Amino acid sequence: MNSYRTHTCDELRLSDEGKSVRLVGWVDTVRDHGGVIFIDLRDREGKTQVVFHPENHADLAKQAEALRVESVIQVTGKVVARLKTDEIDATNPDLATGEIEVDADGLVVLNRSAVLPFQLDRSVANEDIRLKYRFLDLRRPEMQRNMVLRHRITKTVRDYLDEQGFLELETPILSKSTPEGARDYLVPSRVSPGKFYALPQSPQQYKQLLMVAGLEKYFQIARCFRDEDLRADRQPEFTQVDVEASFITPEDIYGWMEAMLQRVFKESVGRDIVTPFPRMTWHDAMDQYGSDKPERRFEMKITDCSDIFANSEFRVFSGAVADGGVVKAINAKAFAPSVGQVDALTQTALEAGAKGLAFIKVRDVDNRDEWKSPVTKRLSDAELQALRERLNIESGDCIFFAAGEWEQSCTILGRVRLQCAEYLELLKDNHDIDLFWVTHFPMFAWDKEEGRYVAIHHPFTRPIPEHVDKVLNGEISTDLCAEAYDVIFNGNELGGGSLRIHERDLQDAAFRALGLDEKTINERFGHLLSAFSFGAPPHGGIALGLDRMVMLIGECESIREVIPFPKNNRAVDLMCEAPDTVDAVQLRDIHIQVKLPEKLRQKLEAEAAQEKEGN
Ligand code: AMO
Ligand code: AMP
Repeated sequence: MNSYRTHTCDELRLSDEGKSVRLVGWVDTVRDHGGVIFIDLRDREGKTQVVFHPENHADLAKQAEALRVESVIQVTGKVVARLKTDEIDATNPDLATGEIEVDADGLVVLNRSAVLPFQLDRSVANEDIRLKYRFLDLRRPEMQRNMVLRHRITKTVRDYLDEQGFLELETPILSKSTPEGARDYLVPSRVSPGKFYALPQSPQQYKQLLMVAGLEKYFQIARCFRDEDLRADRQPEFTQVDVEASFITPEDIYGWMEAMLQRVFKESVGRDIVTPFPRMTWHDAMDQYGSDKPERRFEMKITDCSDIFANSEFRVFSGAVADGGVVKAINAKAFAPSVGQVDALTQTALEAGAKGLAFIKVRDVDNRDEWKSPVTKRLSDAELQALRERLNIESGDCIFFAAGEWEQSCTILGRVRLQCAEYLELLKDNHDIDLFWVTHFPMFAWDKEEGRYVAIHHPFTRPIPEHVDKVLNGEISTDLCAEAYDVIFNGNELGGGSLRIHERDLQDAAFRALGLDEKTINERFGHLLSAFSFGAPPHGGIALGLDRMVMLIGECESIREVIPFPKNNRAVDLMCEAPDTVDAVQLRDIHIQVKLPEKLRQKLEAEAAQEKEGN
């Protein structure tokens, strides 16, 4: 190979017996068997056992014995077959190189490792430690697998889109705020005092401008930045497979993305997926699963029971229907929740805006159902009988109800449904792949706090053809539908996109619907409106979360497992300790003065002192 090595640690086989070889890598383990020293040498590709015989090379064996794990060494030696007789079998069937070992006659220590802060071969509970020493954490085989998977997926995406005629183009990182619903990361300008760049939440406006520029098909493996609350599937900086094309319909996007994902699955994990993906409207997704990203790998669908309880004496139910709302229910089959679980489920419902969470536990008592519930005594026999038939209730089941406004009731039961599935471990060891489209999203939602409409996607999203005139005429309501689509993967939003507005007057009307005045529109979006007045082609696109794609395909617990250097859930890079303070001179250059309120300053100082003590 080169002067460092003749082979990788995954290469040698029985057929190489007798060869003189040179290997490099990390000391994975050191074992002493009665003076004979065995080292598992590891590189990115795999492991090879190296043996040091003291009777042949006494000093080498001594040196090898003293090696700390994770030191980097170079070994020369001869490939020998491992002993395999009727009595003794020294081969290792779990290792590709398990039939041989290298009998060492040379050892060079390239770098000695200090004592490790954690053992790489054990699962480490404390993620902060892993993130602080990410360069060590990444050496673990699972993490190496994740990085290889990430590369393979990225490469497949690039190859596919290139073959389809998409141009890979970069767009600025130092840019202007694009409203995508999160807070912007800002960068102060040195040259323009008092002004700021915003890091892009996505390349949305640029990719549309590339369409106006006549480039027709664009893609980018694009870094995006969003200052939002972090969760297992969210990072402050993340990567999108960002796509835009001109003269297309949603069918073109569906076709490309389905074929791309099919190839990604095949080439990364060797799995076949079925295309075309099923489709579901946003309304059905909400109505049946209480989520715009339904987890459909288990049933427990939300069922409408409004007609059953429209005239009920139980005012919570009949009142909801009388007010134009609904009574919805789910049947968690064979679920006997503990008191603690019912409390936790109720808490979930309350957090989703419920006033309570009515439930019925159905128990078998002397071969007869007994319905245990805070509400059954207020329900008539006829209502209970109708409910039994509607929900196919059997002994052992547990029913949960939400009564009130439609979308909120669905959302409440959607969350309760997922939590029940967790208690019931319905998805444990489930390796199914459920990929489908959610379509027909509403265009606008009403923001009670702000007292105005907000865009469900972003303000460049096109209404469906039937609703274009309504937007133009300012007839705004939550009933208007967008030509937007999300691709869902096992209950996660993998990606989302839409056809865009490409007409100046319609874009203007959409901004106005969001309550933006003319001055703001011109300041923020003047360039876009200007572009739309010079021959903008009809266009649309989509962005898939690359990190999420790798996480879901790799069946990882969190997005942090598939990003080489992620931030923790406080958006901190623990390894380089970013964010950090900067020199006064640096601040002066960019015309920034830091002024923390006194109370906050004291609090931060106290925390820093405490942390120092802890270390
Ligand atoms: P959207 O905001 O839906 O659309 O983002 C597209 C996809 O990006 C991923 N994603 C994230 N991944 C990790 N961490 C985050 N904080 C995060 N936020 C989003 C998700 C999501 O589905 N410009 C539009 C796309 C378009 O209209 O073409 C956009 O950014 O997987
Ligand atoms: P109450 O009439 O307040 O005693 O409520 C009876 C039961 O109905 C309690 O278990 C409440 O948690 C539940 N409940 C109250 N409001 C709602 C609602 N809007 N939807 C579902 N259950 C509710």
